[in-house]
Amino acid sequence: MVVLKAELRQLKPHSILFPALQSLRQPHQAITSIHRKHGDLVLGRFFDKNLLFVSHPEHIEQVYAQEARGLLSRDFLYVAKKSLFGDGLINSKTETWINQRRLLQPLFLKEAVSEWENVITSNASAAANQLKKTTPQEINLSSEIRTLIQRIFIQILMGKLVDDMLEKEQLMDAVGTISKGLLLQMIAQIISDGKLMKLMPNKDRQYQTAVAQLYAFVHKEIASRKEQQGHDLISLMLKATDKKSGYSMTPELLQDETVNLLFAGQDTTINTLSWFFYLIGKDAETHKKITEEILKHKTTPLTAANLEKLVYTKAALHETLRLYPSSPALATQAVADVVIGGYPIPAGTTILLSTYVTHRHAALWERPHEFYPEHFLTTPGQEGRHKYSFYPFGGGLHNCIGRHFVELEMMIVIVTLLREFTFKTNRAFKEAASITLKPDQDVVLSMNLIGK
Ligand code: HEM
Repeated sequence: MVVLKAELRQLKPHSILFPALQSLRQPHQAITSIHRKHGDLVLGRFFDKNLLFVSHPEHIEQVYAQEARGLLSRDFLYVAKKSLFGDGLINSKTETWINQRRLLQPLFLKEAVSEWENVITSNASAAANQLKKTTPQEINLSSEIRTLIQRIFIQILMGKLVDDMLEKEQLMDAVGTISKGLLLQMIAQIISDGKLMKLMPNKDRQYQTAVAQLYAFVHKEIASRKEQQGHDLISLMLKATDKKSGYSMTPELLQDETVNLLFAGQDTTINTLSWFFYLIGKDAETHKKITEEILKHKTTPLTAANLEKLVYTKAALHETLRLYPSSPALATQAVADVVIGGYPIPAGTTILLSTYVTHRHAALWERPHEFYPEHFLTTPGQEGRHKYSFYPFGGGLHNCIGRHFVELEMMIVIVTLLREFTFKTNRAFKEAASITLKPDQDVVLSMNLIGK
């Protein structure tokens, strides 16, 4: 049935001046207060800009479906993200993105990432052995996790040990500065077409300097390679060729993709694991259930298949991603007039998928604000939850390419540590303003050996 535009209901626009300013410091709170005040589908006005806030799973699905039909596009953020992501997957425009995604996808399939099980396991075991020497103690778990994830990631991406890298401190500092500055860059683009950054020249300069450092590092790393026989991601990307078209990536694209992976693959993982250990450190009962499950099942070797047995542990990891999705909101834009939730949305409207809001929506979750892994244990009658009630890895065309890899990585790290240690904390951490949803301070916990 063809629905004429005039027959559609119109969404009433609301001024969102205050939440838009709040979003510079606390984006997850800004989208939460917009939802609380105006509901599931909200058309916001900020000066001459239309912003649509979407949080209902059915509407999220409609957004992804229309994106797949080319009616919505991420290209409006291209300029804001260009200096960091170049033409890598996170930023590339349609044609380049299709070619690049086709080349990279096979490297991240379940079977392909299982090749890295040993690298992950050996690094995680080494970290656990090191920690055993100083237990019991108060431990800065965020810092330990940061070091571990960096080691794993550099080895997988570049095929080398981080200890052999002279610039490792600088590299992590640059990633940290970018991670903080990128939020401002993106919000400035969404609400002011980037003009806001002119009012903060120092912040802009710091950010651009860190980006330049990161690129200089990657450039040097790629240029120093004499041969590409390794099994690391850079070598695999270099060798990758699309059989049908013969397409392979240029040296510039290889550099961009390396930066994209370096950035997309670390902070997200470090934050999620920090939140996980914080949540179980505060919840002795859940911690006990997870430890019992891990000790009961024989998971050696730590393969994806063996880890599948740890249903409750996986549920707790998903529950962490529900409460603290690394990307609290995702942005796209209507490039044609579209209809969402039965309302006409004009071309040019920026569309924000409010992941953080969906994940804590009272109509979707039994205990929306509590840590309750049972949300993810399917019991009769509960299977009906909409697939976009939970989308920490995004969805549609641009879903996270690293999902299989990172779920494997996080499970191996969790199991390796919880086989040996228990964690406890009475502290309370809040979400900090950053492009990824991280704790406002490093997570410090008291750590004991199991049974001691
Ligand atoms: C807990 C860890 C992670 C979370 C929560 C996460 C989340 C996400 C989300 C929400 C998106 C979609 C972004 C959008 O729609 O704009 C995304 C895309 C992406 N992620 Fe992840 N990610 C994680 C880890 C990783 C890792 C480890 C890698 C690489 C090894 C990775 C690489 C990427 C890339 C390249 C994209 C862009 C995909 C595209 O547009 O085609 N991510 N991720």
